[in-house]
Amino acid sequence: MKLAIVLFSLLALSECLHKVPLIKGKTARMILKEKGLWEDFRKKYPYNPMVKFDPRFAVSAESLTNDADLEYYGVISIGTPPQSFTVMFDSGSSNLWVPSTYCNSQACTNHNTFNPQDSSTFQSTSQSVSVQYGTGSMTGFLGYDTVQVGGITISNQIFGLSESEGSYMYYLVPDGILGLAFPSISSSSATPVFDNMMSQGLVSEDLFSVYLSSDSESGSFVLFGGIDSSYYTGNIYWIPLSAETYWEINMDSVTINGTVVGCSGGCQAIVDTGTSHIIGPTSDIDNINQWVGATVDQNGDGIVSCSNVQSMPDVTFTLNGYTFTIPGSSYVTESSDGCTTGFTGSGSTEFWILGDVFIREFYVIFNRGNNSVGLAVAA
Ligand SMILES: *[C@@H]1O[C@H](CO)[C@@H](O)[C@H](O)[C@H]1NC(C)=O
Ligand SMILES: *[C@@H]1O[C@H](CO)[C@@H](O)[C@H](O)[C@H]1NC(C)=O
Repeated sequence: MKLAIVLFSLLALSECLHKVPLIKGKTARMILKEKGLWEDFRKKYPYNPMVKFDPRFAVSAESLTNDADLEYYGVISIGTPPQSFTVMFDSGSSNLWVPSTYCNSQACTNHNTFNPQDSSTFQSTSQSVSVQYGTGSMTGFLGYDTVQVGGITISNQIFGLSESEGSYMYYLVPDGILGLAFPSISSSSATPVFDNMMSQGLVSEDLFSVYLSSDSESGSFVLFGGIDSSYYTGNIYWIPLSAETYWEINMDSVTINGTVVGCSGGCQAIVDTGTSHIIGPTSDIDNINQWVGATVDQNGDGIVSCSNVQSMPDVTFTLNGYTFTIPGSSYVTESSDGCTTGFTGSGSTEFWILGDVFIREFYVIFNRGNNSVGLAVAA
């Protein structure tokens, strides 16, 4: 009897928890390097991590950065019968969009395209949508269809169908983007996927959690509706949101060995799966790179000697009074051309972005139930 109850509750639990595996794959930087285009590309389009966040840099309602180091993506499907797409699960934006068969851009020749005529559940709209990149834009129109994400079937999900895409998209592995931030920043006020999951009663708890594996191609995931305690150790520390736009929280300071090296007196930080590095004001980031022994090159990358990684100091982020520490081995990335730190300056913008370099260290729970972020040491 007891066993039956346990089995039943395990079954009930697994039914409401929906894990989308994320693949850790090739970055745009790697693809451009393979084609011998990287140096020219970066010169032409210097990385501006703030394009995505700061409306002053945006040409239209929503912007996405030209981050060349993003590497995690998963598969969803749209339509009846389902058409599959790889998308970036982006906690720093709110729209869902994929390429469509109406798109003639180069980027639509090497990505999956959605054909609305092949879907019996598709409903078109006359509303246009546009997303500006640091390198070009995506324009298209909005439609509604059934969307499947990690075994969850969402009815009448609004999404963008691209009609033209900037050439940068050609060098990205994912076909499109699935935004996981708040409706308040959604372009054309399109209801985000997770808002529909909540309102259609498809998740047992109004939260999703993210685990990013550092070493292997597999093992990373987004879990909708729950928290998987086998992927973290110790306590979950809950931090209330300071805005319901991005996943934005108060940061008290950034310290190395007890000395404040950034965010002096406090600042705002955005937890963003769709930014690869830890981003902050350039003066603070220069300071941190100096502390860890990095020299910043003309592209803004902090260069370090790979042989020094073991002796590089821990960097500590204090959030809502809790400390989160990242060792050198985690904030340094080694590639065929050497080692770079995961700290990138954004100019004079005051706020910080805690991207994948941070999220790999901590299991993150994005809690819409009480508008908080939970962080625990990743297992
Ligand atoms: C938010 O909810 C979680 C449980 O889902 C709870 O443990 C936590 O204390 C809450 N955090 C805040 C800041 O209210
Ligand atoms: C850390 O600080 C202690 C004293 O506060 C000092 O002795 C030590 O050398 C410092 N370590 C580094 C790596 O700066």
